[in-house]
Amino acid sequence: MTNADHNLIVRVEGLHKHYRMGTEDLHVLRGVDLSVAQGEWLGVLGSSGSGKSTLLHLIGGLDKPDEGSVYFQNDNVYAIGGSRRDYFRNQHVGFVFQFYHLLPELNVVDNVRIASMIGHGGGGRERARELLTRLGLGKRLRHRPNQLSGGERQRVAIARALVNEPDVLLADEPTGNLDKATGGHILDLFAELHAEGQTIVMVTHDPSISERADRMLTLESGKLAY
Ligand SMILES: Nc1ncnc2c1ncn2[C@@H]1O[C@H](COP(=O)(O)OP(=O)(O)OP(=O)(O)O)[C@@H](O)[C@H]1O
Ligand SMILES: [Mg+2]
Repeated sequence: MTNADHNLIVRVEGLHKHYRMGTEDLHVLRGVDLSVAQGEWLGVLGSSGSGKSTLLHLIGGLDKPDEGSVYFQNDNVYAIGGSRRDYFRNQHVGFVFQFYHLLPELNVVDNVRIASMIGHGGGGRERARELLTRLGLGKRLRHRPNQLSGGERQRVAIARALVNEPDVLLADEPTGNLDKATGGHILDLFAELHAEGQTIVMVTHDPSISERADRMLTLESGKLAY
């Protein structure tokens, strides 16, 4: 390891991912290498179907690569066994999913709290409220997801991703389902978090994000173009 590597928080090496459906073999990632520095906001651009969500899930320890490694600081994520990997992910990674993945039967506070309950024992209600208030949802705490607008749901998803103070925030197309103004507010929020030192990896098909991120890469034909 060189000195320059000390502030790397994520390192991805030679990542390959196939999806096999019957006789079809879709080779989505074809050797992806990537490093993310502490405090960096990295954007990954790619057209629909290029493998952005696949890549983000692999970085976040949510799936398994066919080849290659993902390191979090010095831990090899896929060398950690299943249940320990869940715990590891819960401690280190905040994930904002492309389609929110909020639990419909829980209100807003409990949707955020649930992430802090795993691995931390109960509690987290105060932090959930604080985050939600900061994200402008102080008057929506008792609402269920289906009683919220898309932009509000996205903010709940962001609060949930932040509740355990993750080392890295992984965001999958966080503005994709929102109008331009609402998407802009969400990006302002990411910029604020970034200014506070939050490391962010965001995948998107929206090139306007390149004005905000520190660095942009493009995912094309299963590889990253620098
Ligand atoms: N679980 C799966 N099983 C089979 N094929 C899959 C699976 N998940 C994704 N794929 C395929 O892999 C390719 C990449 O999917 P992925 O969701 O990573 O793309 P994406 O870049 O995130 O697209 P979008 O911008 O539309 O969200 C697509 O062709 C998709 O159909
Ligand atoms: Mg996607």
